[in-house]
Amino acid sequence: MAKQEIILAIESSCDDTSISILKGSKIIANVTSTSMSQHRKYGGIVPELASRAHCSDIDKVCSQALAEAKITLKDVNYIAYTSEPGLVGSLHVGKVFANELATLLKVPTIKVNHMMGHAFSYFVDHNTKQLKFPILSLVVSGGHTFIARATSPNNFKYLNESIDDAAGEALDKIGRFLGLEYPGGISIDNIYSDKKLLELAPNKPVDAPFTFSGIKTAALNMINSYKMKKKKVPVKQIASSSLEWITNDLVRKLQHYLSKYKDTKMVLVGGGVSANKLLRKKLGQIKKVKVYYPTLKYTNDNAAMIATYAMLKK
Ligand code: KG4
Ligand code: ZN
Repeated sequence: MAKQEIILAIESSCDDTSISILKGSKIIANVTSTSMSQHRKYGGIVPELASRAHCSDIDKVCSQALAEAKITLKDVNYIAYTSEPGLVGSLHVGKVFANELATLLKVPTIKVNHMMGHAFSYFVDHNTKQLKFPILSLVVSGGHTFIARATSPNNFKYLNESIDDAAGEALDKIGRFLGLEYPGGISIDNIYSDKKLLELAPNKPVDAPFTFSGIKTAALNMINSYKMKKKKVPVKQIASSSLEWITNDLVRKLQHYLSKYKDTKMVLVGGGVSANKLLRKKLGQIKKVKVYYPTLKYTNDNAAMIATYAMLKK
């Protein structure tokens, strides 16, 4: 791609309507509007509300992004958008908007897999010259948890992925059982303490697929047993012990694949849960290979990571 070409990227897979503009290899605008406050009272994302919010916000977000970048639509060379995975209605709003813009401007579209966006999100604001393959990618989000090996941006092989609740989803549900504010992942991060941790569930073998529904059920059973005995539920202890289990599982599995793939040059972490302080602390103990994390504002869903991956995969 010629150096100063412009990609306008759209992310609308869940509750964030985000548009970012990348010029050459630099993000020059990133505007996000979220419908999170509308979902909070339901304790989880309501897909229809999310789609409606995308419909009403996407035009405004686009205008703001163009203004922030100090460009007009006719300067845009490519339209990138999240094509999968995500909420069907939400994805559809982004796709239709992207295709209409592309038709109007007579420019090509670039479809981006949301998970690839998270996987390479470290490069949103870091030089891609640092990118050295093979990489191991650990993505921990609300919808997915996986470890993958990539030998190029387009050659990405899943080594392990969640077969039920993703790590973020389990944390959100445990948070809800405990009466914590949604999203539970953030609430649990904020109240975590390593004091008096409980053994909620046995460890899973390192080569077993990621599964977090068991720890969720173990936390629920523990809460119910306190309630049945009319005893005060130890919210902080159960929340912290669940997070401890989940982060231990993530780190043990990552270490397993690092021993298996000794040629790994870098570990790239991404996704909403990669903001977690305990997870970062534990991953920081890995010495064999350097672990790279996205800047905090790019751990959650954003279009800057979609633009960045579109640039890498072109
Ligand atoms: O990547 P993301 O924004 O959306 C998906 O693609 O799913 O991830 C959202 C998830 C939610 O489950 C949320 O609870 C979790 O990321 N999350 C966190 C933290 N910040 C967001 N989990 C633990 N600690 C955090 N600091
Ligand atoms: Zn995401």
